Amino acid sequence: MTTLAAATGLGPERARYSRVAIWLHWAIAGLIVVNLLLGFFHEDFARPVRGTMMTWHKSIGFTVLALTVVRILWRLSHRPPAFDSALKRWETGLATAVHWLFYALLLAIPLSGWLIVSTGTKVMPTHFLWLFDIGPLPVTPGEGIHDLAEEAHELLGYAMLLLLVLHVGGAVKHHLDGHRHLIGRMAPWLYRER
Ligand code: HEM
Ligand code: HEM
Repeated sequence: MTTLAAATGLGPERARYSRVAIWLHWAIAGLIVVNLLLGFFHEDFARPVRGTMMTWHKSIGFTVLALTVVRILWRLSHRPPAFDSALKRWETGLATAVHWLFYALLLAIPLSGWLIVSTGTKVMPTHFLWLFDIGPLPVTPGEGIHDLAEEAHELLGYAMLLLLVLHVGGAVKHHLDGHRHLIGRMAPWLYRER
């Protein structure tokens, strides 16, 4: 029987991400996937379904923004587990770059969405589900900035999709290559002891 800690030669607390980091990772990942689907496909639905989808889209987006601020603060005050020494330098470099680009996108996507709803011709508060309202950003509405925000939001959505493919591709590749403890760092339930 090898535990994750024994397989990596690290102490249990250094072999994988902490419970909080793992919880934040999977909560945000799930919300992002749902929001990409709602964002890209809401136009295929008729009213009032489309409106309900967008209420969920914006509320999920604000939730991602709040969780990301907590996550970045957490990340800056905690050391992540060390990379597996079998990984090549370019692989750990690429993984680290993808991680930081993810953090940038997790902030920029909801902020650009917030900018869209703050700059249209009819600026109204955004409903956070049916619970409370969130006001617009303090910017002067205008067609130019509104169109720019829409373009940016769409482009950033595609960038997120691309990063997700790279990220999941990397994780699955290493898993299949036999580095099974790499995925176990973020998904300990996938690391079966043997
Ligand atoms: C949009 C969805 C996702 C986002 C935004 C995301 C973001 C991140 C970030 C930022 C980290 C780095 C944590 C840090 O050290 O600061 C990370 C690590 C990790 N993620 Fe994701 N992730 C997503 C989806 C997934 C999925 C679907 C998988 C499943 C294969 C996955 C597997 C992992 C693993 C295994 C790690 C640890 C990497 C390592 O050991 O270096 N992630 N993720
Ligand atoms: C996790 C965060 C978010 C993700 C991943 C995301 C993703 C997307 C995507 C992929 C689209 C479709 C873009 C297109 O094809 O034109 C979209 C549309 C939209 N999103 Fe978001 N979004 C997020 C957060 C937000 C937030 C916080 C708001 C507003 C408060 C927002 C408002 C909108 C609006 C108004 C549209 C429709 C734009 C249009 O019709 O051109 N989004 N979003």
